[in-house]
Amino acid sequence: MRHFKKYLTLLVLAGISGSLFAQQKNKSDLLSTIDDALQKAVAQYQYLATTLPADSLPRTYYPLTKKSAFSESGWWTSGFYPGSLLYLYTYSHNPVLQTEAEKKEALLEKEQFNKGTHDLGFMMYCSFGNSEKIHPSEKNETILMNSARSLSTRFNPKIGCIQSWNASKKWKFPVIIDNMMNLELLFWATKHSGDSSFYKIAVSHANTTMKNHFRADNSSWHVVNYDPETGQVISKQTAQGYADYSAWSRGQAWGLYGFTVMYRATHDRKYLVQAEKIARYIMTNPNLPADKIPYWDYNSPDIPATYRDASAAAITASALIELSGYTDAIHKTNYLKFSEDILHALAGPAYTAPVGQNGGFILKHSTGALPMSSEVDVPLTYADYYYIEAMLRYKALKGK
Ligand code: GLY
Repeated sequence: MRHFKKYLTLLVLAGISGSLFAQQKNKSDLLSTIDDALQKAVAQYQYLATTLPADSLPRTYYPLTKKSAFSESGWWTSGFYPGSLLYLYTYSHNPVLQTEAEKKEALLEKEQFNKGTHDLGFMMYCSFGNSEKIHPSEKNETILMNSARSLSTRFNPKIGCIQSWNASKKWKFPVIIDNMMNLELLFWATKHSGDSSFYKIAVSHANTTMKNHFRADNSSWHVVNYDPETGQVISKQTAQGYADYSAWSRGQAWGLYGFTVMYRATHDRKYLVQAEKIARYIMTNPNLPADKIPYWDYNSPDIPATYRDASAAAITASALIELSGYTDAIHKTNYLKFSEDILHALAGPAYTAPVGQNGGFILKHSTGALPMSSEVDVPLTYADYYYIEAMLRYKALKGK
């Protein structure tokens, strides 16, 4: 009997150390997978650079017709390409990438004075914000400060929010969950200048969004339409999701990332709580596929016969890696495991294109705006950006 117990204990210990070994192996496997993916990304982006007209930025590629789509600097995605190049430069130190980033940033410079969009955080912070982190310069700082000033002109104190899209027949003062992503630029501006007005606008926008954008199940509406005269909510709707009541996948990812940044910037625990609620919504969603790359809307009635959104997965992975640094041990493990699963899936052949294909983009299978039949099941410049960011964050977390 004693021998049997000893045998059992040895078996259990062997099992535990076996599974610890498996976990360890998985982690180091992922790190080598990431290194391989980043090396290929460097080659892919050098190829992408050869496909671009001098005055354009990459947006997507249509695999069926083999046609690329580009954008000018005023489009909301214009900052992601220089940003991706800069991230890949920090990984590879290949000067060609930095030169290409600066070339494209020259096109973007004029957007610092653009008061017609709320997307200046995406456009200017993902580009010049990353440049500033690598090589701080007065030029970057002036551009970023002007961008923060332009963005702030869209703030309505009666509502407490920055206006997303301009007024139209459909909305008076629309605020979309995506707008949470533009606040990081404002925090930078206060830190740099000492002018707290940017910080206050960001906090007010986040608090109003927390109050009006979230449902009881912690998913969010895409658009909240306000009355600029009274500050009251007129309606809660969608633009890019399946229905007003549904949970558009990228919107959930923007919220998760945005409230994680809010906690980083303010250390106010209510933002951490909000980010963790969104994380729970995403991670426990019954419509999430096994590989954790969500369908384009968590409530699409066509699931599983509908499109994925790799961009939502990449944004989620990047946000969860950061969030894992702010929470307790159990949540940390869960967030990291979830992001590891996403990164494993994205790095595989189902989502990563071979170098020289996919119009030069890294990832396949994102969805821009399905209800408008726009950019469905295609690569997207921002999917690549947040994927590269997530991989770099994971490497940094592991001290590699
Ligand atoms: N910010 C626009 C989008 O996520 O499609």
